[in-house]
Order: sequence, then C-alpha cells, then structure tokens
Amino acid sequence: MAILDDFKLDGKVAVVTGAGRGIGQTVAVALAEGGAKVIVNDLDIEPANETLELVKKAGSDGVAIAGNVASKDDVQKTVKTALDKFGGLDVMANIAGITRDGMLHKMSEDMWDFIVDVNMKGTFFCCQAAMAAMRDLAKADGKEKKSRKIINTSSVAGLFGNKGQANYSAAKSGIVGLTKTVAIEGLMFNVQCNCVAPGWIDTRLTQKKPEGSDIGIPDQDRQQSLMYMNFMGIRMGAPIDIARVVYFLSTSGSDYLTGVTLNVSGGLKT
Ligand SMILES: NC(=O)c1ccc[n+]([C@@H]2O[C@H](COP(=O)([O-])OP(=O)(O)OC[C@H]3O[C@@H](n4cnc5c(N)ncnc54)[C@H](O)[C@@H]3O)[C@@H](O)[C@H]2O)c1
Repeated sequence: MAILDDFKLDGKVAVVTGAGRGIGQTVAVALAEGGAKVIVNDLDIEPANETLELVKKAGSDGVAIAGNVASKDDVQKTVKTALDKFGGLDVMANIAGITRDGMLHKMSEDMWDFIVDVNMKGTFFCCQAAMAAMRDLAKADGKEKKSRKIINTSSVAGLFGNKGQANYSAAKSGIVGLTKTVAIEGLMFNVQCNCVAPGWIDTRLTQKKPEGSDIGIPDQDRQQSLMYMNFMGIRMGAPIDIARVVYFLSTSGSDYLTGVTLNVSGGLKT
C-alpha cells in the first residue's frame, strides 16, 4: 500500500536524547527499525552504548554520544555529530527528562532549578540547535521541500498538574508552549514540531524509589496510583506505547500535524 511509504524512515537521520534507558531507548530502536540512522545521546555513556548496540541489531547505524541536554555546548555537539557523520538531521526527538519530587512547601530552590534546567531549558537548547540546522538544510533543499521533525516530551503532569511535582509540572507545561512557538517558527522551513505527554510508563522514573535514591516513587504513593489505575481499567504503559507515537510524529505521515501535544496516557487523564 502506498500509504505505508509515508511511514518509512529510510535514509533519515535522527537524534534521540535520553536514549540510554526507558522511553528514549525504545524510541531510538523504533526509529532504527524504520530505517533511520540514530545519534544516541544520554548523560550516561554506558547505557547509550548499549542502545547503540540495539540500533545496530535493528539493522541501522548510529553514534553514541555522552551529553547533558542542560548544556548548550553538549547539545550543539550532539547535533553537529549528526551533520558531520551522516550529513543531515531529519528528526530531533527530545526525550531526556528527570524528576526530583517534593511537596511545594518543602521544595528547595535547587530542586526547582535542576528540574527546570534539565526538562525545560534542555528542551529549549535541543529545539534551538535542531532548528538552526534544519533551517540551513531546508535552504539547501531547493525545490524538494523535505519535511523535518522536532518532537518534545511533556507529561500529563504538565497538562493536569501532579502532587509533589510543582517543578516538573511547571517545566513540562513550559514545553507545551515552547512546542507551539517552535511549530510556528518552523512553518517556513517545513519543520513540524509536536510533543508527547506520557501518562504512567513503566521505567526507572516510575519504579519503587530505592532507599537513598532521588529517582522513583515512594512505595505507598505508587501502590495507591496502581490501585486507582486497576480500579479504572487503565494499564500501566510500556515505553513502546510512547515510542509508537513518537515514531508516527517522526514520519512524513504526520506532515500536516504541528504544534500539538498528544496526551498518551491510556486514559489515565482525559
Ligand atoms: N515514565 C513515565 O511515566 C513518564 C511520564 C511522563 C513523562 N515522562 C518523560 O519521558 C521522558 C523519558 O523518561 P523515562 O521514563 O524513559 O526515564 P528514564 O529515567 O528511564 O530515562 C531517561 C534517560 O534520560 C537520561 N537523562 C536524564 N537527564 C539527562 C540529561 N540532562 N541529559 C541527557 N540525558 C539525560 C537518563 O540518563 C536516562 O537514560 C522524560 O522526559 C520524562 O519526563 C515519563
């Protein structure tokens, strides 16, 4: 069927941030399965290397690169790697993100700054670096007018708020607004920018918080949420549930969609 050709990624070059684990890793492998070369970014190089192996197993090629999305230099190096190594940038999937939860009255300024820096400023740096490259590439395209994609990651916490996540929900809400403006600025260059807002996905971020760790959810809160989901008939999502949507937003099949945030929560929030 000809329509399926619009969902192929052969010859495309993608950057995936936060691709060492969880949703980012699954996105990187999905894009590779679709035919894209993948620059695998993560703060931690070891998991990034593991993802690169999976990308190669999927029959594609790529590069693993350590980098912090909250560092403008690191982000620019990541985008430059795509341009230098594979001669283009068709998809920028900004998946990297982190939580540092606490009730508002106990939230320190450091907790606020850290989460806003990684999630919102990091996404800003990624959009900025990608748009600069994509504008130049679009000018060089001539009449061909290829579409290019920027995909951001919000959260249902950014759309609806969430107890203990003032910092995270503010940052993730900011990403929704950022997405709309990037979409508007991308129109003349055929760059579509969209966003996914995942619900509860089974990754390191939603696992039972290990003793002494900053990442995860306290067991009691987690059990309560799971009981509510069970009662409502909502299943916990898997990274592939988000990767399928990011994949769609990476392909020409989504060329007439821009500036949109998709709530991908299996009905957790409607
Ligand atoms: N898991 C969920 O339920 C859920 C829900 C809503 C939104 N999200 C969002 O989805 C995205 C992926 O989360 P996940 O659940 O897969 O988490 P995860 O912890 O499993 O994976 C995130 C990856 O991002 C990397 N990372 C963290 N900070 C980084 C930085 N500054 N620079 C580069 N890489 C960095 C981590 O090393 C990790 O490998 C995040 O933006 C998160 O906020 C997740």
